[in-house]
Parts: sequence; structure tokens; C-alpha cells
Amino acid sequence: MLSLLALVSLAACVNAWLPTNSYAPGKVLCPSVDLLVRNASSLSTEEKEWVASRNEVTDDNLVDFLTHANMTDFDASTYIHSTNNGSIKIGVAFSGGGYRAMLNGAGQLSGLDNRTEGAWEHGLGGLIESATYVTGLLGGNWMLGTVALNNWTSVQDIINQDTIWNLEHAIYAEGGWNIFKTAETWDDISDDLQDKRDAGFNVSFTDAWGRALLNQFFGNYPSSGAALTWSTLRDADVFSGHQMPFPIVVADGRTPGTQLISENSTVFEFSPLEMGLWDPLLHGFVDIKYIGLNLTNGVPVSNGLCIAGYDNGGFVMGTLSSLFNQFLLQLNTTGLSGILLELVQGVLTDVLDDYNDIAVYRPNPFFGLELAGLELIVNSDTLYLVDGGEDLQNVPLWPLLQEERDLDVVFAFDNSADTDYSWPNGTSLVATYERQFSNQGAGVAFPYVPDTNTFRALNLTAKPTFFGCNASNLTDLARTPPLVVYMANRPFSVFLNTLTYKMLYSEEEKLNVIQNGFEVATRNNMTLDSEWRACVGCAIIRRLQERLDIEQLAQCQKCFQEYCWDGQLSSEDVLSDVNFTSTGITSGDESNGTTKASGALVAGKDGMRAVVWAAVAAVAVMMAV
Ligand SMILES: *[C@@H]1O[C@H](CO)[C@@H](O)[C@H](O)[C@H]1NC(C)=O
Ligand SMILES: *[C@@H]1O[C@H](CO)[C@@H](O)[C@H](O)[C@H]1NC(C)=O
Ligand SMILES: *[C@@H]1O[C@H](CO)[C@@H](O)[C@H](O)[C@H]1NC(C)=O
Ligand SMILES: *[C@@H]1O[C@H](CO)[C@@H](O)[C@H](O)[C@H]1NC(C)=O
Ligand SMILES: *[C@@H]1O[C@H](CO)[C@@H](O)[C@H](O)[C@H]1NC(C)=O
Ligand SMILES: *[C@@H]1O[C@H](CO)[C@@H](O)[C@H](O)[C@H]1NC(C)=O
Ligand SMILES: *[C@@H]1O[C@H](CO)[C@@H](O)[C@H](O)[C@H]1NC(C)=O
Ligand SMILES: *[C@@H]1O[C@H](CO)[C@@H](O)[C@H](O)[C@H]1NC(C)=O
Ligand SMILES: *[C@@H]1O[C@H](CO)[C@@H](O)[C@H](O)[C@H]1NC(C)=O
Ligand SMILES: *[C@@H]1O[C@H](CO)[C@@H](O)[C@H](O)[C@H]1NC(C)=O
Ligand SMILES: *[C@@H]1O[C@H](CO)[C@@H](O)[C@H](O)[C@H]1NC(C)=O
Ligand SMILES: *[C@@H]1O[C@H](CO)[C@@H](O)[C@H](O)[C@H]1NC(C)=O
Repeated sequence: MLSLLALVSLAACVNAWLPTNSYAPGKVLCPSVDLLVRNASSLSTEEKEWVASRNEVTDDNLVDFLTHANMTDFDASTYIHSTNNGSIKIGVAFSGGGYRAMLNGAGQLSGLDNRTEGAWEHGLGGLIESATYVTGLLGGNWMLGTVALNNWTSVQDIINQDTIWNLEHAIYAEGGWNIFKTAETWDDISDDLQDKRDAGFNVSFTDAWGRALLNQFFGNYPSSGAALTWSTLRDADVFSGHQMPFPIVVADGRTPGTQLISENSTVFEFSPLEMGLWDPLLHGFVDIKYIGLNLTNGVPVSNGLCIAGYDNGGFVMGTLSSLFNQFLLQLNTTGLSGILLELVQGVLTDVLDDYNDIAVYRPNPFFGLELAGLELIVNSDTLYLVDGGEDLQNVPLWPLLQEERDLDVVFAFDNSADTDYSWPNGTSLVATYERQFSNQGAGVAFPYVPDTNTFRALNLTAKPTFFGCNASNLTDLARTPPLVVYMANRPFSVFLNTLTYKMLYSEEEKLNVIQNGFEVATRNNMTLDSEWRACVGCAIIRRLQERLDIEQLAQCQKCFQEYCWDGQLSSEDVLSDVNFTSTGITSGDESNGTTKASGALVAGKDGMRAVVWAAVAAVAVMMAV
């Protein structure tokens, strides 16, 4: 029950300041600053200070991790505790891909978490304890959000206690009805939405979807965190005491009726402190606690009290998975009432059909921002956000590439469904790579990566691959990027290439996927490479070695030979009948474990989603009628 207790305490903490103790935002005293939006020219003072304190924690943990890694090249303690060298900063990113990505991501995280049984002995236990930042997108964010808002509980605890992530009852299930055990849950959700509306705020599908998600992630109504906010985390001991990495989740800006590509998307990030973006055209961050307040150029429109509670945890998680809003269109209207019924029947005048997969933020905190050139956003009273994968950057790397954060190494866990059979093929890394050369990418650097055919033909998705191994090869980029350790979803003990929109998982399936995620991160519990931990260590210390001009010795050279992409390209045809024998699965090919995504089911692929949704929505409307 620990995690539930933890949640109750966190919620109690919210109650202390949230006046409404409900889903509705309410009035609070304003902070003692005049400007709530700041120029994104640097990190906020709070983040800078937080990271400085976190460094002290990660320095010690990293020495522990590297010592255990048996690195023959490197005396961790000497280098890391030398004050002149600065701290090594590690980022970890978990991709989107629905519940598949949530569960795979949970397993991958557990492989890095020393609290997982076996992670120290045959995994990378201690790595997440040594990380400075962690990011999530869509399913990766459901995972990260659940863990973070739940007092940074461990995946091991979630498995042992079995109180959250019960996916045996889908929010939406095939056939258009059975959602929760009781229809009252939807009534409760409807009431919550009504509360928010009564307080003077627009509601959209994202509110309903977010409330439903939180119910699934934080236990049942009525205790399911209606008043739990994203900024709650800053008051939690585990965050203020620097006992967890700094969590960031991402969304994209998208005006209804438009389409996104990675070159021109606007990438918003949400941290416990701020919401905003680094993009050159709109270059600002707002204090996330007050995003419900009417601001013009960052200044409150009316004097007096501020608004808090708009950054509801469910609403944020719903925003980052806005594509899934469409599932609510399939609800059985017989059991529905109130505002939710109005939403599903499309009779709410404040939400048009085009907006069904878009989260509506009104007021727009960036309204009238003078330091911004992005007129589409600063001239609108509403900010429209969608899940961050719509621009194909399905691994949320952008926040980790910012010069201000200055990371040494980034672990990129890719659980995307790019291929016909829902495996990753590097699409996301290619999108991020290309974005650095666009106007939106000014000042950001990402290592060279090959085309997706090469990713597959050279088996770069079959085992971990390091990109940007030698800074000396990267001098043409805007700056030296972090070294990227890429790990793609792969079957070890089970096939887990389930469709992105699969909404039901049995308890057994769930545990299997989590276990397989652990095996992905640990090279099948070190059985495929007993020196995997040392090789990860080599990647972690690489930039520091380069800065100090320390030559790599034999062990790390061998690791780099094994794991670095050497610049080779391949136009050879990709085999789909990959032999998995080495991974413990003795038969089958990549088509096992899923249905081929075709026709309307192409929606199961993460790419092209925006295009495909129109078709899905049409089907859904027919079913709802
Ligand atoms: C959060 O977890 C930490 C241990 O990681 C524990 O010491 C603390 O009491 C927990 N906080 C709450 C509010 O439960
Ligand atoms: C590290 O090396 C020592 C001595 O060579 C050995 O006993 C130990 O098992 C190794 N540890 C790991 C985690 O490989
Ligand atoms: C790998 O380790 C995990 C965590 O300790 C464990 O649950 C799993 O069964 C192991 N897998 C194999 C194939 O031994
Ligand atoms: C991880 O756990 C092991 C065994 O419990 C312990 O010896 C080690 O110090 C821990 N390391 C970190 C970084 O938490
Ligand atoms: C819709 O819900 C009603 C009442 O709960 C139920 O009787 C009916 O069978 C459901 N319809 C469908 C298509 O599931
Ligand atoms: C982004 O570029 C695509 C393709 O060129 C275009 O269709 C779309 O309208 C652009 N979106 C924005 C917001 O500029
Ligand atoms: C913000 O301004 C709009 C338009 O002037 C108004 O309708 C709304 O009530 C205001 N919201 C708050 C929370 O003050
Ligand atoms: C990789 O996935 C993308 C997105 O689904 C697709 O367009 C591309 O053809 C795929 N490439 C290969 C080689 O599979
Ligand atoms: C990639 O894997 C396939 C199937 O296991 C194998 O036939 C092929 O030789 C590998 N390619 C490379 C470049 O290692
Ligand atoms: C990077 O540089 C190394 C040595 O300087 C070279 O061997 C390697 O092929 C280069 N890699 C790429 C991707 O260009
Ligand atoms: C897969 O590869 C293993 C080892 O390389 C080989 O023994 C086995 O026969 C192969 N299986 C198939 C079905 O090709
Ligand atoms: C893969 O699919 C084939 C054909 O459907 C089936 O015979 C085989 O058992 C499957 N293998 C696994 C490991 O699921």
C-alpha cells in the first residue's frame, strides 16, 4: 500500500494550497514576482540550483555504478570527485507508443533502477540514480508521470502491490462500452468537468481523457487525485530532496486543421517548475503552477489573486496523449450523462470536431508575448497542444539536447511502432537529427544517424547502438552533442510489438512486457554481453575523457567497436525474418506478436497518425451513433 499512501500524502499536500480541493482551478495568493513568463535565454534559477544539488547525489551514485562496472580504464572516484572536472550529466528518454511504450518503458526503467530485484546483479541498477534528467512522451509519459507523481515509486513496488496500472479493464474497450467497472465513474468524471466549467474554464476531450487516465494510474474514484497537479511535485520531498532525476514531458503545438513535421513543429516541455519552449521564434517559459491565469506579455491581466490548479496531473497526461481522445467518441452513450454526454454528442459549442484530438489551453499563457515571433501562438487567446510524437520525434530528446543543460550522454529508449509489424526503425532519431538543421533547431546539436533502411539492415535496432562516439567527428554541428545510447524495443522473453492502440492487457501480458523491457535494457540480463555494464560506463565517461584529453584504453575501445555506429550505410533489403535465437526466442519472425498494421489499423503505427485519425474518427462516429 506504500504507493497509495504516498499518493494520499501528496494529495494532502495539494489540499493545503488548492482552495477548491477539486478538479476546478481556484484562486490563490500570487507569487511575489511581477512577471510569470521569462525569456528562455538560460535555465531558470530554480532548475540551475536544483541540478547543482542533484549533481552531489549523482556524483556519488555514479562512482558506485562505475566501480561496480569493473571498468579497467578509469578510476571513477578520482575523476568524478575532482571539482575541476564538473559533474557528468546523464539524460534518459522514454518514447511514446501507447500502453506498449508505457509497459516496455517501465521494464527499461526498472533495468536502470537499483530498487528492482536483480538490477544490481544482472542489470544497470544505479544508472537512474545517477541520472540528472528523465523525459517521457505519450506512453513513456504515462509511465514517467505515474512513477513521478506517485512519490517516485519504483516499478518493482508497482508490480508487487498491484494497485495501479490495472489494464484488464480498458478505458475504452472494443464494442464501445465497458470502460470502468461502474458507469458511476463516468458520472464522477462528468461532475469534475462540470466543476472546472463552473469555475469559468473551457473543457475539452482532453479533460475527460485525462481524468479517466488518472483513475487508472492512481486508483479508483473518488480518491484518484482530482486535485493532484503537475507542480505538486516541487513540494514532494523526493523532488525537493533531489532523490529523483528532473522529469520533463513534451507536447507539440498544433493549430486545428494543420499538420506537423519535425522541421517546423513547436516543442513544448513541462517540468514541475515550468512549461514552455526553447524554439527560436517563441522563446519563453511560464511558471507552470499559474498557467490558468490570464496573462498578457507575462503579466497578470488583473491585479489580485492568481489561479492555480490548471496544471492538473491528469490534464497534463491527457494533453500528452491527445490522440487517444478519439477513443472517447466510442463510448456507449446509454450510460453517459452530463457534460461528457454533451462532449461525445458533439453538442458542446466551445469544442469543434477539428479539436477532438487537441488539448485546449485557454487562457494561453504566452498571449501577447513580446519576445516571441510566432504570431500564430502569441496572437491567440488559446494554446493548442497535441502529443509530442505527432512530429515523428517519438523519443523525447529535444529537452535533453539544449546547450544550457549540457548533458554528456543520453539513453534513448525507442518503443515506437514504425514498421508494419510495430517495431522501431529509427524514424524518431532521424526526425530529431534533421530538426537541428531547420530554423527551429538553431543552436541544438544531435549526432549523425543513418537512414531508417540502414538502421534495420545493419541491425542497429537489434542491439544497443551508440551514436556520436567521437566528438572529433562532430565539429560540423552547432556544438558537441551528448553521446546517444540508442536501445530499440526487441523480443527477448516475449513478443511485445503490440499495436499502439491496444487498450487491454491481462495481468500476465503486462508483467511479461515489463520483464522484456528489463531484458532490452540489460542485454538480456547480461547474458548477451557480460561486459555490457562496463560498455555503458564507457559511453557515460566518454565526453569527460574527451574534455580531459584522456585516451580510451582497451576495454572501452572494444566496447566502442562493438556498439558505435561507424558511419556505414546500407541499401540492402531489410529482412523481416530475423533470427532471434540469440535472444532466447527460438522460433518466429518479426511478424509474431501482433497483427500487421493495414488499412484503418495503420493507426497502430506511430508515424502518419494525424493523417490516419480522420479515418478512425469517422469509424468511431459511426459506432457511437
Ligand atoms: C516518498 O518516498 C520516500 C522514500 O523514497 C520516503 O522516505 C517518503 O516518506 C515518501 N514520502 C511520502 C509522502 O510518502
Ligand atoms: C568484477 O571483477 C571482479 C574481479 O575480477 C569479479 O570478482 C566480479 O565478479 C566482477 N564484477 C562484475 C559485476 O562483473
Ligand atoms: C532478467 O532479470 C529480471 C529481473 O531480475 C527477471 O525478472 C527475469 O526473469 C530475468 N530474465 C531471464 C531470462 O532470466
Ligand atoms: C545499489 O544496490 C547495491 C546492493 O544493494 C548497493 O551495494 C549499491 O550501493 C547501490 N548503488 C546505488 C547507486 O544505489
Ligand atoms: C450500452 O450500455 C447499456 C447500459 O449500460 C447496455 O444495456 C447496452 O448493452 C450497451 N450497449 C452496447 C452496444 O454495448
Ligand atoms: C509545416 O510544414 C508542413 C510541410 O511543409 C506544412 O504542411 C505545414 O503547414 C507546416 N506547419 C506549420 C505550422 O508551419
Ligand atoms: C480571462 O479572460 C477572459 C476574457 O477576457 C475571461 O472570459 C475569463 O473569465 C478570464 N479568466 C480568468 C480565470 O480570469
Ligand atoms: C520506417 O518507418 C517509417 C514510418 O512508419 C516508414 O515510413 C519507413 O518506410 C520505414 N523504413 C523502413 C526501412 O522500414
Ligand atoms: C543482421 O541480422 C541478420 C539476421 O540475424 C543477419 O543475417 C545479418 O548478417 C546481420 N547484418 C549485419 C550487418 O550484422
Ligand atoms: C569518427 O572518427 C573515427 C576516428 O577518428 C573514425 O574511425 C570513424 O570512422 C569516424 N566515424 C564516423 C561516423 O564518421
Ligand atoms: C538461428 O541462428 C542460430 C544460430 O545462429 C542457428 O543455430 C539456427 O538454426 C537459426 N534458426 C533459424 C530458424 O534459422
Ligand atoms: C510465431 O508464429 C508462428 C506462426 O504463426 C508460430 O508457429 C510460432 O509459434 C510463433 N512463435 C512464437 C515464439 O510466438
